[in-house]
Amino acid sequence: MTALSLDRYVVAGNPVEHSQSPFIHAQFAQETGQALTYGRLLCPLDGFAAAIRRFAADRSEGTPRGCNVTVPFKFEAAALAARRTPRAELAEAANTLRFDADGWLADNTDGIALVRDIERNAGVPLAGRRVLLIGAGGAAAGALGPLLAAAPACVMLANRTVAKAEALVRRHRVVAGTADLRAVAPQDCGEAFDVVINATAASLNGAKIPVGPAVLAPGALALDMMYGPAAQGFIAWAESHGARGRDGLGMLVEQAAEAFVLWRGAVPATAPVLSALRARLQATAR
Ligand code: ATR
Repeated sequence: MTALSLDRYVVAGNPVEHSQSPFIHAQFAQETGQALTYGRLLCPLDGFAAAIRRFAADRSEGTPRGCNVTVPFKFEAAALAARRTPRAELAEAANTLRFDADGWLADNTDGIALVRDIERNAGVPLAGRRVLLIGAGGAAAGALGPLLAAAPACVMLANRTVAKAEALVRRHRVVAGTADLRAVAPQDCGEAFDVVINATAASLNGAKIPVGPAVLAPGALALDMMYGPAAQGFIAWAESHGARGRDGLGMLVEQAAEAFVLWRGAVPATAPVLSALRARLQATAR
């Protein structure tokens, strides 16, 4: 296979140098026998669309087929595409673009990845459970629709700026089914949730956990969407109050797998890649 005929993908973001996506997709490609390259694209904060258009038009090193999109460009990515999947439309945010000949398609694979990580990898079925989702930014927006599709008894959306949570709840009312879906301030979210998900950036800037320990039912699953040191504060807090802590690494691998399916039509096994990624990050942390 010549370099010119290789299909090309990148993860686009700012910053992007620490992204594990190239490693994950290289593993998927090897596992499924797909020939592709996957790199990183650092986009200027005020030049995301131009950078993606340049990448998509550049055939000097292969054929650009799509990209993943990370912070802070997920909202712009959704707006940039000609078409959006229903879940990207609902989230108004996209983490995956596919460069189709008849126009770009935007998808959001974050939410389904979170649900898969909770249900399959952590072994906690969401149907009938009480779920607390903390945050109402891009990360929470991607998660809410797929969480509701898993038929929990309730989803409480708690955010420092309650108006943002209320707007998300309004938009998701049509997909809430029988779930009790409400927007609240973090101090008013109630007690004893089976699954507590931190989708805020609070841990990044060293702020304290925005909810009290009463939100944790005994043995609850407490998942921070971040991984590495950024997730440790929330996980340590949850475990010190009897919950089971989990970071966002499983979600990261699952969102990549769902993007891989959209691009390549092949379903990679995620468990070996998650193990390899954990080992790799532990080795680099030493
Ligand atoms: P992302 O795309 O990662 O979700 P974002 O859209 O900037 O990033 O959203 C960040 C989220 O973290 C928001 O829910 C934000 O709360 P506000 O909507 O009130 O701004 C939340 N957040 C950030 N810092 C926080 C802090 N110190 N305490 C509580 N919530 C915080």
